[in-house]
This record gives sequence, structure tokens and C-alpha cells, in this order.
Amino acid sequence: MTFSLNTGRLVLEDLAEHDLGDLTRMARDRDVMRYVLVWLEDDEQIEAFLRRGIDEAKRNDRISYMLAARVPKTGEFAGLTFLEIDPGSRSTGEVGIVLMKDYWSRGYAEEILRAYLSFGFETLGLHRVFGKCDEENHPSARLMERCGLQYEGTIREHVWLRDHWRSTRYYGMLAGEYNPPPP
Ligand SMILES: CC(C)(COP(=O)(O)OP(=O)(O)OC[C@H]1O[C@@H](n2cnc3c(N)ncnc32)[C@H](O)[C@@H]1OP(=O)(O)O)[C@@H](O)C(=O)NCCC(=O)NCCS
Repeated sequence: MTFSLNTGRLVLEDLAEHDLGDLTRMARDRDVMRYVLVWLEDDEQIEAFLRRGIDEAKRNDRISYMLAARVPKTGEFAGLTFLEIDPGSRSTGEVGIVLMKDYWSRGYAEEILRAYLSFGFETLGLHRVFGKCDEENHPSARLMERCGLQYEGTIREHVWLRDHWRSTRYYGMLAGEYNPPPP
């Protein structure tokens, strides 16, 4: 059965074979991918990423949610999102959001992050949800701060990707800090 989460204006759904074209379009957009720390550099990597998303969704003890963000009425692909639970502790989850440019600066990412916080803390009972972003990715940092995640520190120049050494800012929220939205 396909898993889905409603964010308000978008729906997050399991990736499917038919997402390959949209994923490829996203991965080839340099503006979208500038700060994204995921290796989608060629067709092989994109196909492997999609295959992993589809396979992970079939696991009984699911710990990885790689979900396409779609417009409910049209099915249009708005971006890629994920919640990955730490396989060791099973108590921490990392959330990530990559929206296509048409969906920037319209509040969609905030909706998505809030939906993942609710799913992570209320449904899955996680203890900690975190996100990370390149230190130059100010919209992403603003988004996490707006949703109440706390800045936890920066790992300096830990990886080279494409054109520069990446320094990554970490933001986290603990279960005790989570405020569910009013009913
Ligand atoms: C990072 C990213 C997800 C952030 O998205 P975003 O569009 O800035 O965030 P939102 O969708 O919540 O939109 C918020 C902005 O829209 C504005 N806005 C407009 N209409 C709005 C509405 N109805 N509701 C809320 N905010 C609205 C807000 O004021 C805010 O502007 P500000 O950031 O200048 O203060 C997005 O830039 C992105 O996908 N980038 C490319 C991929 C990427 O780098 N991902 C992160 C990897 S770490």
C-alpha cells in the first residue's frame, strides 16, 4: 500500500517508477541542487536513488521514507522529501526537503517540515528529529529555525561535492520541545 502524508496544500507519497523523469529534471537543475548533499550526479546515481526509495518502502520494519511532494489535484511533482530513521537507535530521524524552483518561497517547505515533525514525534514516537544544511543555504536555515529546530553546531568542510568544501549546519528538535499544532 502506498504511504502518504498530507501537508495541507501538498501530499507526500512513496516514490514510484514514474518519478524517474521528474527526479532527473530536479537533479539536473543546478540552482535546486546547489546545496543539496545527495549524490545525484549521473543517470546511474539517480536510478539507484529511486530504486532504493522504492525498495525501502516495501520493508516491514520501515525506517526510510523517501517521499515525492505532489500537488493533490494534478499530481505535479513539487519536489523530493525524506525522513530517514537512524537504523541503530531507531530514535532519531533526519528530515530533508528539495523543492523544484516553482515551489520556493510560498510556504510549502514549512508545511512539509511541520508534517514530518508531527509524523516523527506523534506517530513514530521519535526522540529527536534533525535537519542539516550547507552553511551558505540561508533559506534552509531560516526554514528550520522558523519551525522551532535549534541550531546545534557546524561540521566544518567535511566533504567536497562538485565545486566546494561543504560545511554543514545541524538543527535539531527533541520530543520534549515539540509543540503539536492546535486542533
Ligand atoms: C531549502 C528550501 C526547501 C526552503 O524553502 P523555502 O521556499 O525558503 O521555504 P518555504 O516554502 O517555507 O517558504 C518560506 C518563504 O516563503 C514566504 N512565504 C510566501 N508565502 C507564504 C505562505 N503562504 N506561507 C508561509 N510562507 C510564505 C515566507 O515569508 C518565507 O520567505 P523568507 O524565507 O524570505 O522569509 C528551498 O529553498 C529548496 O528546496 N531549495 C533547494 C534545495 C535545498 O537546498 N534543499 C535543502 C537542502 S539542505
